[in-house]
Amino acid sequence: MATTDRSLSQAIAERRATPSFDGAPIPPEDLKRILDAGLHAPSGYNMQPWRFVVVQGQEQKRRLRAASYNQAKVEEASAVIVACGDADGWRKDLDLILQQGLEGGMPAGYADQARSSVPNYMGSFSSDQMKAWLNKQVMLAFTHMLLMAEVMGYDTAPMEGFEQEKVHEVLKLPLSYWVVALLGVGHLKGADKFDGGRLEMAHTVFGEEFGKPLK
Ligand SMILES: Cc1cc2nc3c(=O)[nH]c(=O)nc-3n(C[C@H](O)[C@H](O)[C@H](O)COP(=O)(O)O)c2cc1C
Repeated sequence: MATTDRSLSQAIAERRATPSFDGAPIPPEDLKRILDAGLHAPSGYNMQPWRFVVVQGQEQKRRLRAASYNQAKVEEASAVIVACGDADGWRKDLDLILQQGLEGGMPAGYADQARSSVPNYMGSFSSDQMKAWLNKQVMLAFTHMLLMAEVMGYDTAPMEGFEQEKVHEVLKLPLSYWVVALLGVGHLKGADKFDGGRLEMAHTVFGEEFGKPLK
């Protein structure tokens, strides 16, 4: 199905967590555009520790569904983007990232400093700290993809309802991978989800310090 861009404001206003998809395939060029939006996200030290496994095959979606508390939309979505973080990504990619940075105008002093500060910082993380750091980075790329898909006229379903070990097994993920979230992409089938509403801004936003209203 052809898609048409809508504005980001409109996509944000109209987006719902899609309850059910029609399963029609996504043209590869649309999928690439969605994925590319994620890869453009910012990350700490530009370390890009995200890794994505795109599941479109019916049999593999069925297995992924079984690893996701049997959520039907995992199998119904045209594509499920499994967003992971690689705890060893920084070790493998630091040189390449600094090289690319230097080619793009990164000051040599910054690169020299990063060569020691990145291993000092990330090498000291506990396993829990690494998972928290990966969650932060990966969800930003995930959100870029979700919004790009919505702007393009697709419907999306973010999901955290899955079992880490089972998803690892289905996707044959390396041990250093941490599965962060699943993003179902496709076209809505049937009625959309209700609008759960949002808390007032005064409830969740403060100005200058906690508890003070934003003027
Ligand atoms: C990180 C994340 C994980 C979620 N996991 C699930 C899930 O596993 N299954 C599900 O049905 N909905 C899931 N949701 C959808 C939320 O329930 C939904 O976004 C929320 O109720 C607000 O509704 P709205 O997105 O339509 O505004 C998830 C949303 C987010 C952001």
